Amino acid sequence: MINLVGIVGNNWSGSTNRQLLQYMRTRYADRFSLTLLEPGSLPLFSQDDENAPGPAVEAFRQAVAGAAGVIIATPEHNHSIPAVLKNALDWCSRVEHPLAGKRVMIVGSALGPMGTVRAQGHLRQILDSPAIAAHVLPGNEFLLAGAHAQFDAQGQLTNPQTIAFLDTCVAHYLAFLNAEQE
Ligand SMILES: Cc1cc2nc3c(=O)[nH]c(=O)nc-3n(C[C@H](O)[C@H](O)[C@H](O)COP(=O)(O)O)c2cc1C
Repeated sequence: MINLVGIVGNNWSGSTNRQLLQYMRTRYADRFSLTLLEPGSLPLFSQDDENAPGPAVEAFRQAVAGAAGVIIATPEHNHSIPAVLKNALDWCSRVEHPLAGKRVMIVGSALGPMGTVRAQGHLRQILDSPAIAAHVLPGNEFLLAGAHAQFDAQGQLTNPQTIAFLDTCVAHYLAFLNAEQE
C-alpha cells in the first residue's frame, strides 16, 4: 500500500479542503492510505527557533519525509495560499527539507467560481523554491469551485463529472509517483 500524507491548507473546523482530502482518503482507500496533517497545529515560524522547532514541527516534517508522496489541499485567501499553509512550508524549508524531491499533487477548494486557481499558481511557485524543491504533478489542476454546494451531508462529492475528473487527476498522480520508482 502506498502511504501518502494530505496537508490540510486551512485551520478551521469547517474547511472544505479538509472535507476534500477526507473524501479522497475514502474514495481511493484501495490505492493508497492518506494520513491528514494539520498545519494549524504548528507554531509560527521564526529563525530564532529553527534549530529547535519543537515536537509539532518535528512530527510534521517526519510525516512528510516518511511519505511516498504528498497531496496538498489549498484554499485561496486573498488571491494566495493561507498563511497557515505558508507557515508549514516555511518550516519545511529550513534546516530540514522534507519536501525536496517529493512528488506532490495540488488540489484546492474555494467558495468562489475560480476554485483556487490563483492560490494553486502561487503554491506551485513556492514548492519550486530552492529550499523546498518539491516535484509537483504537471498538467493537472483540480479546482473545486462553489465548494459549499459540492458536498452532501455525508461529505460526499455530488457531481459525477467532478468525481470523474478527480479520478483522472489521481490516476495521473499515481502514474507520476510510480514513474519515480522505476
Ligand atoms: C481571509 C479569507 C480570504 C479569502 N479570499 C478568497 C480569494 O481570494 N478567492 C476565493 O476564491 N475565495 C476566497 N475566500 C473564500 C474561500 O474560498 C472560502 O473561505 C473557502 O471555503 C476556503 O476553503 P476552506 O473551506 O478549506 O476554508 C477567502 C476566505 C477568507 C476567510
